[in-house]
Amino acid sequence: MQTHLRGRDVITLQDFTKDELDTFLDVAFALKRARALGEPHAYLRDKVLAMLFFFSSTRTRTSFEAGMAQLGGHAQFIESKTTQIAHGDTAKEIGEILGRYNDGIAIRQCDWGTGNKYMRDVAEASRVPVLNMQCDVYHPHQALADIMTIIEHFGDPRGKTATVSWARASSYSKPVSVAQSLVLLLPRFGMNLRLVHPPEFKLMPEIVEQGRENARKAHASFEILDDFDEGFKDTDVMYAKSWGALLTTQDPEEDKRLIDKYDTWITDEKRMALTNDDAIYMHPLPADRNVEVADAVIDGPKSIVYDQAENRLHAQKAVMALTMS
Ligand code: CP
Repeated sequence: MQTHLRGRDVITLQDFTKDELDTFLDVAFALKRARALGEPHAYLRDKVLAMLFFFSSTRTRTSFEAGMAQLGGHAQFIESKTTQIAHGDTAKEIGEILGRYNDGIAIRQCDWGTGNKYMRDVAEASRVPVLNMQCDVYHPHQALADIMTIIEHFGDPRGKTATVSWARASSYSKPVSVAQSLVLLLPRFGMNLRLVHPPEFKLMPEIVEQGRENARKAHASFEILDDFDEGFKDTDVMYAKSWGALLTTQDPEEDKRLIDKYDTWITDEKRMALTNDDAIYMHPLPADRNVEVADAVIDGPKSIVYDQAENRLHAQKAVMALTMS
């Protein structure tokens, strides 16, 4: 176990060794147990987390905020539009100044080509850890909660197959960051990874290459398919969600046209029947019900989406306790 995590930024889990990831998970399970037993665990008494949002959120905001309160500290919710950022506050100033008031700075900035750079610029100027609440490239706390949920369900997931697939959503063009963080992380736990998407919905090539390398090091397989149904066959984890065609077009109308071109890419009961008997269905939420996934699947016996959402709380508490104490 590697426990020297105090002061570390969490922008991508790629920056952490497998031992360090195991430490996050070990503490997450301990904190989940402590909460279930009503045991006090105020490891961050008098500490404050600044949470800066450039984009809306349900789970991320409320789980970080609840987590800080349960750890004995406080979280400030800051919407960028209520700040002076639009009037000139730079990333350097945000890092310098919020870093002097707080013990951690958490940021959600998902704008394509901008979010990750903004986060790294804030981190460069900050004296306290910067935690990525989702950017254009990564969603590390979602992926950490997801592997926690998979381990909770299966035990050691080594040798299990995980399908990370594109699915169609009509609500908005979603970031690629969840899929990318999963492609990087799941092979590190020995899971055989299947990435499935139509040709126009590629992920960043350097991320896919890193995921492939992670799989090679862990003696796991890594394959890319463009047939949605094939992704379901004999898989153990079906993680199908939408993302925009950001690597193909920056034109929102063309993006929508491409998304609508694949209107049969919905996770339904017929497709879920192709998965292994004890397979699970995962989605980070929000989901476009009956477009991205049928009600019968997301509310069905294979779905573990609420356990997955709950584990955001425990995984993030572990990260905060270890990096901000
Ligand atoms: N999964 C997730 O990040 O949810 P929110 O967008 O509601 O925070």
